[in-house]
Amino acid sequence: MTIQWFPGHMAKARRQVTEKLKLIDIIFELVDARIPLSSRNPMIDEIIQHKPRIILLNKADMADKQITKEWIEYFQEKGLKALAINSKTGSGMREIVSAAQEILTEKFDRMKAKGVKPRAIRAMIVGIPNVGKSTLINRLAKKNIAKTGNTPGVTKAQQWIKVGKELELLDTPGILWPKFEDQEVGLKLALTGAIKDAILNLEDVAIYGLKFLEQNYPDRLKEHYNVEAGKSQEIVEIFDAIGKKKGCFIGNSGVDYDKVTDLIIRELRNEKLGPISLERPE
Ligand code: G4P
Repeated sequence: MTIQWFPGHMAKARRQVTEKLKLIDIIFELVDARIPLSSRNPMIDEIIQHKPRIILLNKADMADKQITKEWIEYFQEKGLKALAINSKTGSGMREIVSAAQEILTEKFDRMKAKGVKPRAIRAMIVGIPNVGKSTLINRLAKKNIAKTGNTPGVTKAQQWIKVGKELELLDTPGILWPKFEDQEVGLKLALTGAIKDAILNLEDVAIYGLKFLEQNYPDRLKEHYNVEAGKSQEIVEIFDAIGKKKGCFIGNSGVDYDKVTDLIIRELRNEKLGPISLERPE
């Protein structure tokens, strides 16, 4: 399996984020709650340096609730505030603003003491493609899209979106790249739909998903596909069983493995097997 690596894109994206750092008070780092490590940019700490940040575990509705809690604790132990959110429904939006206010209390108090006029917190969303950046921006903006190009001290060309009185968000998120060169990361990104199908061998992706289910969610494998985990069966036997259960045939000549592959990937991505976390803190 070959996964493409785009050093050119990477450098450009990095430059764009770095340029905007000086305009903002805080970063909202969006990750996929199902794969909080694999959906992060491997150089994120280096890129954003000491800028305060909140990790937003987006698509929390698609992840295992208990494991998401463990991730929040994991980040907390590393000194990072993390929140579980669902940008599609808006769950967790209020907490984002209050967490940002809390983190920046000291900075804003210092500014106040120096006589600087109170202003809204300025934030920027960063994350890998498809993690939900646009959905989150639209959700936070709601009807209050008031672009304010002329905020004092801010580059004119920069567009800001007002989120209530407390927050201003850069209208363009920073697009970062995941760690493409790691095969397992690639498989997880593909299973969650973060990277395009064309650059991966789909059968590898489906097999990875099945093996993961076998080890971590055997009940769902049984319930949904009638496949018994732990029976040391060949993967082809599992494909056959799923094909028969779900009616994936080529004419009269037996199970259509391409159809089974597509089905497994589609159903995992569309939560047909329920909320699933593909990563758990060590
Ligand atoms: P991006 O800007 O980071 O590239 O991502 P974008 O907002 O386009 O979101 C990518 C996909 O993820 C979209 O689905 C979006 O609806 C979905 N999404 C974003 N946040 C959440 C969330 O918290 N929960 C769930 N379940 N889904 C989320 P899509 O299939 O591309 O479009 P559509 O089905 O919404 O039309």
